[in-house]
Amino acid sequence: MTTALDRDLPPDVADLPAVLDWLARLRADAPVWRDRYGMHHVTRAADVEVVLRDTATFSSDFSAVMPEAQQMSKGMLTRLDPPEHGALRHLVSRSFTPKRVAGLEPRIRELTREMLPDAPGDVEGSTPIGQRSSTHRSVSFDLVDALAFPLPVTVIAEMLGLPAADRGRFRQWADGLFSMQVEDPKEAVNDPAIRDAMGEITGYLGDWCRARRAAPTDDLISALVTTEVDGRVLDDEEAANFSMLLLFAGHITTTLLLGNAVRVLDEHPGAWDALRADPSAIPATVEEVLRLRPPFPMTARATTRDVEIAGVTVPARSIVMPWLLSATHDPAAHPDPERFDPTRRGIGGGAQTAFGHGIHFCLGAPLARLEARVALEEMTARYAGLTVGEGEQRPYTGRVLGTRRLPVVAT
Ligand code: HEM
Repeated sequence: MTTALDRDLPPDVADLPAVLDWLARLRADAPVWRDRYGMHHVTRAADVEVVLRDTATFSSDFSAVMPEAQQMSKGMLTRLDPPEHGALRHLVSRSFTPKRVAGLEPRIRELTREMLPDAPGDVEGSTPIGQRSSTHRSVSFDLVDALAFPLPVTVIAEMLGLPAADRGRFRQWADGLFSMQVEDPKEAVNDPAIRDAMGEITGYLGDWCRARRAAPTDDLISALVTTEVDGRVLDDEEAANFSMLLLFAGHITTTLLLGNAVRVLDEHPGAWDALRADPSAIPATVEEVLRLRPPFPMTARATTRDVEIAGVTVPARSIVMPWLLSATHDPAAHPDPERFDPTRRGIGGGAQTAFGHGIHFCLGAPLARLEARVALEEMTARYAGLTVGEGEQRPYTGRVLGTRRLPVVAT
């Protein structure tokens, strides 16, 4: 019989029970575990936080480990260490403060109301997306097509100043990038499919950066190409990479969060009714869904020196994978971690690590939280019930946690 530790690669995150079981065994028996390609997987919540906090030892700059990655990293906030990271983050951070983001709420609500199919029985104004049952007691639709994809992508496209009409292309690109199966992360930069996809995306965004440099407006791309950072402005390549990060980080994760929220509520009888009865519980529910199903299950860092983690020496220039999914399921941080409990104390404001930790803590967290709250408020107000329906969900494999499709039945 093989045990979880006999493997030489992690299980696919598409098989959530298998991956949670494997992570629990690692936390107990091998909290720093080396895989076939020499990646060191870190699984205890306390160690994950140390890795994410100590940027001098655990660098976001992979150029010493993967020199080919450098080209794609120019201007990528997630690939920078201090002090460059702080200067670049400052450039856009004003647009993502909770106060600034709160100003987007009316637009997010308007979009959500337009996108959601009418409730059954609301025959007037019935939308072409939903399929009504003959008795009009239920309406079936795909939640990802109807809302979870178009809502966040439209919001971030409008912030960047990109035409929302291009969202079909954004979806194709995101789907392609997040579906690619690359076992060895060191090989990802050499993968021709990834290179081609990135080339196409940065080509498209580079055109927008040039256009905005010539004629700036008040959108985020204009800010990226005109604001000085450390006495200079970003070049088109840096600005295109940065806008690519904002475009994709700004939608795929929230798409996954919305689908994960509906699936978790569906798995817990009474949870939908509880939110309908008390919508003020929605923000805490969103945090608990993020804890149970973080859309980014892991991230990566490169060691700058030999370092000991949980008694294991990790050599310099190694890739370390801190597992957010493991930190959020570590009983040392969250008692009885598999239990869905939106009333957990300490949840919210960084208590769970689905948005990361330290200087790279998700810039878009206030926006993601707002979009998820408004979406759940509107859905619970509109539908007496929302359950997962029959049909394919197509979970993502590899590096993100969630599904590409989510058939639902609203009553
Ligand atoms: C549920 C939704 C989201 C989740 C779970 C999520 C998760 C994360 C995580 C885990 C990180 C840290 C990565 C690391 O340390 O390596 C991160 C960083 C980031 N996120 Fe999000 N994110 C979400 C939504 C968004 C949105 C809506 C935006 C909007 C633009 C966004 C923009 C960013 C950016 C720019 C960074 C890099 C920050 C830095 O390096 O300083 N994210 N996100």
